[in-house]
Amino acid sequence: MAPILSVRDLEKTYDDGFKALKSMSLDIEEGEVFALLGPNGAGKTTLISTICGLVRPTSGSITVAGHDAITEFRAARRLIGLVPQEMPTAPFEIVGDTVALSRGLFGLAPDGELIERLLKDLTLWEKRNNPIMALSGGMKRRLLVAKALSHEPKILFLDEPTAGVDVELRHDMWRIVDELKQRGVTIILTTHYIEEAEEMADRVGVINKGELVLVDQKDELMRKLGRKLLKLHLTEPLSAVPESLSKHNLTLENEGASLTYVYDSQAERTGITTLLTELSAAGVGFHDLQTDQSSLEDIFVDLVKKG
Ligand SMILES: Nc1ncnc2c1ncn2[C@@H]1O[C@H](COP(=O)(O)OP(=O)(O)O)[C@@H](O)[C@H]1O
Ligand SMILES: [Mg+2]
Repeated sequence: MAPILSVRDLEKTYDDGFKALKSMSLDIEEGEVFALLGPNGAGKTTLISTICGLVRPTSGSITVAGHDAITEFRAARRLIGLVPQEMPTAPFEIVGDTVALSRGLFGLAPDGELIERLLKDLTLWEKRNNPIMALSGGMKRRLLVAKALSHEPKILFLDEPTAGVDVELRHDMWRIVDELKQRGVTIILTTHYIEEAEEMADRVGVINKGELVLVDQKDELMRKLGRKLLKLHLTEPLSAVPESLSKHNLTLENEGASLTYVYDSQAERTGITTLLTELSAAGVGFHDLQTDQSSLEDIFVDLVKKG
């Protein structure tokens, strides 16, 4: 099946000369939940804004369900819902009206039933006659989701949907995403919470300094996370890993004072027993050993540091 969203060699250089996106390519399959992870300033919002037509790309192309996002802007944009990073700013607008209006902006006929369902699904129905300023922070977030869904988009972008909200609201947002996924909506969200990507995503992309440095199935990443580290603190520092041990997955750290062994904790054999026997045969002694689980967090920090 053709991807529902295709980004090819996309670049964005802002007017001040800052390169926010460097030749980015990405395909999103229909129905998947894709989490774009990256630190502040990585280019997440720029990427989303470019896809949604709010920022003009410097070069490259974007196709939404076969429609070119620039030459066929309306057709492409019609399929996209965007929950922006910022909170709504029209304090006096009435909750129900603002959702209905969002739909109208796409030139669609009013649909009271749909608006009612959205407001009920997002637990805003009771507040439908209140002005936006009467809503709590979490309600305002949910209102943004209702507005973004008012024209029944196929793809929903959520830009940092849970930044600065408490745990309860975060779980609320996760539930909403799950329900939308069940209904077949394709979801692309940005976050700098790794836990959020772990919880919601089918696939994860890591973005740093305008580049996608990794794209992988979450399960595949989690499998890699099943890798554990065994750290041996040596009695005598080594200048190199002895030749006889080269077949093991070993790296010297701390100026030769410690040796790290990476193994698959889910594998039938970890190889630790063999390693320890061979270490002893090679005359390498250690005074302490510890194990560490590598996490998505480590991988993330590592990737971002290298960038
Ligand atoms: N209008 C702009 N003009 C110049 N630089 C910008 C503009 N908007 C964003 N940037 C810069 O582009 C980089 C990426 O920003 P952004 O896409 O907002 O990152 P993220 O959403 O990952 O935090 C940042 O360094 C930011 O300062
Ligand atoms: Mg952002």
